[in-house]
Amino acid sequence: MQTSEDKTEALKQRIDPERVPRHIAIIMDGNGRWAERQGEHRVVGHANGVRSVREALVACREIGVGYLTLYAFSTENWKRPKAEVDALMDLLVRTVVGELEELNANGVRLHTIGDTASLPEGCRNTLMEAIAATAKNDRITITLALSYSARWELVHMARTIAQEAKAGTLDPEGITDATVAARLSTVGLPDPELLIRTSGEQRVSNFLLWQIAYTELWFTPVLWPDFRKAHLYEAVLDYQNRERRFGSISEQVTPG
Ligand code: FPP
Repeated sequence: MQTSEDKTEALKQRIDPERVPRHIAIIMDGNGRWAERQGEHRVVGHANGVRSVREALVACREIGVGYLTLYAFSTENWKRPKAEVDALMDLLVRTVVGELEELNANGVRLHTIGDTASLPEGCRNTLMEAIAATAKNDRITITLALSYSARWELVHMARTIAQEAKAGTLDPEGITDATVAARLSTVGLPDPELLIRTSGEQRVSNFLLWQIAYTELWFTPVLWPDFRKAHLYEAVLDYQNRERRFGSISEQVTPG
């Protein structure tokens, strides 16, 4: 009988190693609903979501994805009940501390994007230490979007550009795509080729709006705590079956 490990391995074997996305971004959604369905507090859903973070990271590393970016806490999430926000921050700290050795053993570099200055001091310090401790790892970069929203990032970029123009260090006529990209919090990260969202919602919810201009979107009804390696492989296989034209016509992107 085929076990779920066999099925996962069979999916992985079907992936074309030549066309693996370099960067996958994930909107991890559905923790609250997962917990409520089991009669548990929402926080239990977040705690169970940590296993899925690990599964997604290991799956990405195994197939050679270089960058994984997770929407872990949005600017809007600050509006949630204080107890849930505190529990999320606590979970983040415990997870980062608990996984640090494993991250280093597997060549994982930790990175963050977002308004991290607004995070509680203890959380910020833990993140800074883990970022420094993993800075030399080069197999995969995991980026946690924390207190992040794309509109926050775009407003910040606009302010920076306006200040530079006002100071005379930037010529408004010379502003290009690259000028904008260099002033976003994702500077240094390639744009994601694939964006996954769990829990059945089909929205982008203020995540990486500039960066996903040509990104393939993949939605699944699976709630984040149930997300496993097999789901990530399914998403990559679906991505590999799509034709990415970037505004060109079919013949121009598939020669012959
Ligand atoms: C969305 O589910 C999930 C979050 C806002 C937080 C994600 C956090 C984790 C998976 C745990 C820790 C993460 C790391 C990186 C260590 P929701 O609460 O919006 O679910 P709902 O839509 O069902 O209410």
